Amino acid sequence: MNEVQDKIVGPNYRLLLSEQQIRARIIEMAAEISGLYRHDVPILIGVLNGAFIFLADLIRYINIDCEIDFLRISSYGDQKGSSGHIKVLKPLSADIRGRHVVVVEDIIDSGLSAKFLIKMLSAFEPASLRLAAFLQKKSGHDPDIRIDFVGFKIGKKYVVGYGLDEEQKKRNLRAVYVVEHLQSTIN
Ligand code: IMP
Ligand code: MG
Repeated sequence: MNEVQDKIVGPNYRLLLSEQQIRARIIEMAAEISGLYRHDVPILIGVLNGAFIFLADLIRYINIDCEIDFLRISSYGDQKGSSGHIKVLKPLSADIRGRHVVVVEDIIDSGLSAKFLIKMLSAFEPASLRLAAFLQKKSGHDPDIRIDFVGFKIGKKYVVGYGLDEEQKKRNLRAVYVVEHLQSTIN
């Protein structure tokens, strides 16, 4: 771990994915996306706040033209479990009708957020709609959700870093850590 970030990673944080592992996988994902959309200009829609780092890194390895936009939804608040009540806090700015859209999520746990997003964005009649997630928790998420691009599949632990938060903090960690004193509350 780099010295700069030492002080915000205490004994309760166990390294799960190193910066090097993350970068290698992002390069692979970007290559896959670049190949699939080589005849199009896709629009990647980052789901705030968690996906901002993943999206920023991903697009810098994509070697075709692409656009980005962001939206923000809420479902968790500052709690560690999904309430199932999802609100749109920041709507899309771009017009995605007839566009090739990739929704970019930080992590899929129950799949509720993704399901809501796919349904909402489908109503704008994009030409295609795919889902990319940096992480997917093996928590038996809704089988209706197809995740087209997955960075890493992880266990049912609460993780922070690389955009993922613990009560809005720890997003700035460059690697991903399991928070040992927290359990993911979705079973
Ligand atoms: P889902 O609706 O249960 O799939 O939850 C997805 C959202 O919950 C993600 O986009 C994250 O914002 C948040 N989330 C779920 N698990 C974690 C975690 O382990 N760390 C940080 N955020 C999480
Ligand atoms: Mg999220």
